[in-house]
Amino acid sequence: MTLQHEELKKQVNSRRTFAIISHPDAGKTTMTEKLLLYGGAIRLAGSIKGRKTKKYAASDWMEMERERGISITSSVLQFSYNGYRINILDTPGHQDFSEDTYRTLTAADCALMMIDMAKGVEAQTEKLFKVCRMQGIPIFTFINKLDRHGREPLELLDEIENVLGIGSCPLNWPAGLASGSYGLYDRRLQKLELCQGGQISEIVPSNGRGLEDAAIQNALEGSFYEKLKQEMELLDGAGNKFELDKVKKGLLTPVFFGSAISGFGIETFFHEFLKMAPPPAGKKADAGLIEPTANKFSGFIFKIQANMNPAHRDRIAFLRVCSGKFERDKVVTLVRTGKNIRLSQPQQFLGQNRNIVEEAYPGDIIGLFDPGLYQIGDTLCEDGSFKFEKLPRFSPELFAKVTARDATKYKHFHKGLSQLAEEGAVQIFKVPRTEEIILGVVGELQFEVFQHRLQSEYGAAVNLQRLPYQLARWVMNPDPETLSRLRSFVVKDEKDQTVILFENEFSLNYAKDKNPSVTLYSLEECPIV
Ligand code: G4P
Repeated sequence: MTLQHEELKKQVNSRRTFAIISHPDAGKTTMTEKLLLYGGAIRLAGSIKGRKTKKYAASDWMEMERERGISITSSVLQFSYNGYRINILDTPGHQDFSEDTYRTLTAADCALMMIDMAKGVEAQTEKLFKVCRMQGIPIFTFINKLDRHGREPLELLDEIENVLGIGSCPLNWPAGLASGSYGLYDRRLQKLELCQGGQISEIVPSNGRGLEDAAIQNALEGSFYEKLKQEMELLDGAGNKFELDKVKKGLLTPVFFGSAISGFGIETFFHEFLKMAPPPAGKKADAGLIEPTANKFSGFIFKIQANMNPAHRDRIAFLRVCSGKFERDKVVTLVRTGKNIRLSQPQQFLGQNRNIVEEAYPGDIIGLFDPGLYQIGDTLCEDGSFKFEKLPRFSPELFAKVTARDATKYKHFHKGLSQLAEEGAVQIFKVPRTEEIILGVVGELQFEVFQHRLQSEYGAAVNLQRLPYQLARWVMNPDPETLSRLRSFVVKDEKDQTVILFENEFSLNYAKDKNPSVTLYSLEECPIV
């Protein structure tokens, strides 16, 4: 093995690239901030919150990057901790929810699912979880807000198993103390961590007696001790055993409890998580599995964002490095077109500012200047000899009819429409015969962004008229009679495939019952889209 290959292996093994998924308010931002604090990437709690509320100016981020050597992009946070190089991918919350959010998960090697202890599994967590499931990536669970009155831990585990359909294995467990104080029993290390009046301490029995240890018994009041003991016996007897192999296959989720805001349980969690979380894995391509340690550089585009900086009026394509070492000025092939491209200005982003990346390794994300070259799902590789599997698409759930306000701007309107569709900002359908255009999205904000961008970037003002549909189903080569029997709204997608829009589950199920011989595919299942 050459020295370079040795180095590549080392870099790959030190990478941990993950997304934090949660319903808004479960504590994703607070957790991200705590992890950055441990990594020494920020010094002040509140910095990320600042970003969220836009209190922080771009220059503050610049300053921070210079000081700490981290990169803060709109898509990824990169920092070092304990010998690991960590990439946290941002999955925008409620208001910004879009297809991009889902696609970002295709660039992650595992996901951390945050759950609010008082609320349990919420709608958006469920959606994001399903996408992680499709990817087959390991999912780790953090049940947050232990410091507040929450639901019973056993009830929460039941909910994870029943609603999400994944086995769970708690690695620590809440132990009640008096009011205002709380504890966590670490099942593997058999120690008790305590938070009393804001002070964090721990009791580590030296004799391996775990819960039988007198110091632990003394630390917990009688009824709390009995409850913990009973719950531990129940979990040891009837709970899922911890099996790393099942975690890696996404069949079992390790569960941690803690409080992101007070930092209680976070450091232990982070240590364990990094040990269990996988380094970048091989990725399927038409030439077989491409290992991250393969010598030749490769990557794929998972997100394209236009006008990140209005002063530049440009598009940036986000590339996840999948194999080999990336160096600035590398010449690669864009496999779809066969074109050779010199990547002379690979970037990482910092608010409105950018900096050039000199090198990157599998698991890292870089931004490429895009003069209209790239499409979502594109493979870039050193010798152009393979193409990664296509990225999944996601069934839209919101629909609107779009028309140009000014007929003289028709050309601009169509140019904007096709570019934004290419970028994956919206999905476009046409009504046969009338040629009316219908937009499909997964998040409300996509409509607003679409409208705003058509106006500001292409000078075409548009009207949107919301339609009452929530579900799109693809039908393969239907005959006219079948279509009329389905009795719903029929449109064509960009590839001229037939798509039926339904108002709700009820109308979909009704159509299925009445037409058992017709297969209605969701976009995720559709074999040819
Ligand atoms: P998000 O990114 O998932 O949307 O959640 P975020 O971290 O913004 O947290 C949502 C709210 O929950 C915030 O309160 C935050 O302080 C609080 N929070 C996060 N972790 C914990 C925890 O461990 N315990 C408790 N008790 N609260 C927690 P907020 O009032 O909305 O904002 P702020 O005024 O604190 O900034």
